[in-house]
Amino acid sequence: MTGSPLIAIDGPAGAGKSTVSRAVAERLGLERLDTGAMYRSVAWEALHRGVDPADEAAVSEIAATADIEVGPGVSINGADVTHAIRTPEVSRAVSIVAANPAVRRELVTRQRRWAAGRSGGVVEGRDIGSVVFPDATVKIYLTASPEERARRRGHDESADGVATRDRLDSTRQASPLTQALDAHVLDTTGRSVEDVVEEVLSWL
Ligand code: DC
Repeated sequence: MTGSPLIAIDGPAGAGKSTVSRAVAERLGLERLDTGAMYRSVAWEALHRGVDPADEAAVSEIAATADIEVGPGVSINGADVTHAIRTPEVSRAVSIVAANPAVRRELVTRQRRWAAGRSGGVVEGRDIGSVVFPDATVKIYLTASPEERARRRGHDESADGVATRDRLDSTRQASPLTQALDAHVLDTTGRSVEDVVEEVLSWL
């Protein structure tokens, strides 16, 4: 491997993306970008302003003009939403917001700008290897059994909620959740974080 790697980590809810991307970033001394938190913060802002998440024009205006910071904490227009974006209300609204093509265009632009300003990074989401960074150094597609995914999300989302969100995220028109052809598929069911991280690092 030469230069700093750009590692794309995609997969459905509860596959282990956040835990694995955090651990990989730490091991490699790279920054991590949680793109789901960007979609969630736009959904939160819409709900906060009383805007219908399905109102495409109003929500894309929010995405285009919002000041969004995603690091260890998450803020939108100065409001700390680190915890607020994980509520069931936001989880229900976010798939509608993420299906909005103008919102996606805006957030994808910001994600590319984030990477352009750094040498390498770990980026997690749904379309990172397929759309945002098709030339990523390595692409990982994480999966886990439906039972395991529901269990992992259990503290903040019902099994039905996870299943509905996955269905919406996989069947939407604009950049649905897809496995890039050149992605390494990794089933995290019953595996330790260390074990999964070692396998990811072996692909670099
Ligand atoms: O990773 P997460 O569960 O926090 O993501 C929240 C939602 O955002 C998810 O239901 C789909 C959407 N999303 C997306 O469409 N594209 C991404 N790159 C990341 C998330």
